[in-house]
Amino acid sequence: MIDNNQIVVVVGAGLMGTGIAHAFASSGFATRLVDSNGQALDKALQNIHAIIDGGVKLGKLVPEAAAAAKERLSVHTALAEGAPGASLLVETVSENLALKKAVLAEAVPLLAEGALLATNTSALSVTEIAASVPRPERVIGMHFFNPVHKMKLVELVLGIATDADTVARSRAWCDAIGKTSILVNESPGLTTSRMSAMLGNEAMWMLQEGTASAEDIDTALRMGFNHPMGPLELGDLTGWDTRLSVLRYLHATLGEKFRPCPLIIKMVAAGRHGRKTGHGVYRYDEAGQRVPGSGLKASAL
Ligand SMILES: NC(=O)c1ccc[n+]([C@@H]2O[C@H](COP(=O)([O-])OP(=O)(O)OC[C@H]3O[C@@H](n4cnc5c(N)ncnc54)[C@H](O)[C@@H]3O)[C@@H](O)[C@H]2O)c1
Repeated sequence: MIDNNQIVVVVGAGLMGTGIAHAFASSGFATRLVDSNGQALDKALQNIHAIIDGGVKLGKLVPEAAAAAKERLSVHTALAEGAPGASLLVETVSENLALKKAVLAEAVPLLAEGALLATNTSALSVTEIAASVPRPERVIGMHFFNPVHKMKLVELVLGIATDADTVARSRAWCDAIGKTSILVNESPGLTTSRMSAMLGNEAMWMLQEGTASAEDIDTALRMGFNHPMGPLELGDLTGWDTRLSVLRYLHATLGEKFRPCPLIIKMVAAGRHGRKTGHGVYRYDEAGQRVPGSGLKASAL
């Protein structure tokens, strides 16, 4: 059980930091959100208030609870203001090893004795990040999913030094904010990115081979397996450029089974990155709506 008097500091007020700070503040913890960029903090605060207000409109939250959640959250441009006395730090700054190491090293002397250090890195080594602090056994990966207020999962990622007490406390923190945690040893793609990359790649191989149409491959996974979205629609949403770089990394680290399908390489070279470029496996109109019947056809490959 986590005692509600504990203070949480979330460092990095981007897409993920916004959701993570909301999760802690709305679960009853004094939450300090730190970002070196004041505009990012303004935007994050606005977005967090919008999520909380949305909860009131949907009847999930009474106005008093919404006001209390807003009050529990404060924003700061310096770690020296946000970190003192906090017993959990969640680092979610930009995906850059040197930056993450610097944040942890600066925070440690300011935090409460025995504080837990969590990193939300997607792909960097928890072991390497942990090497920047004197007690690496207190460092763990806490990999959240976007949008944080809707996604239940947290992958807890164990670096080489992460100890059992850190794992137990991290699980308790996840329980306290209503998330389901799983344990993963540090490894390329963890569980989720690895599975998702494999599925998206295989769907592209099937499309390339003319096994079925894009629409039918997506329908198969939605209707046959209850996936909320098919693997090709999901690739269009994530971006095939991002997908390709993940696949190249997994291919280099885990071997042949992750060799990127040539169709993905061709699509990325053509600028068909997905929704963000208006064209991926499907085409999208100016309003971002998918054009019916626009799925890539095997005969046109
Ligand atoms: N976007 C996702 O879907 C997703 C999912 C899981 C994990 N992640 C990981 O979460 C982390 C953040 O991703 P994001 O998408 O929120 O990025 P983002 O670019 O939206 O936000 C990063 C924030 O970090 C801030 N920042 C940079 N240096 C800082 C410093 N020294 N001190 C304080 N703040 C600093 C930036 O100003 C920015 O606001 C990355 O490690 C990413 O890999 C992202």
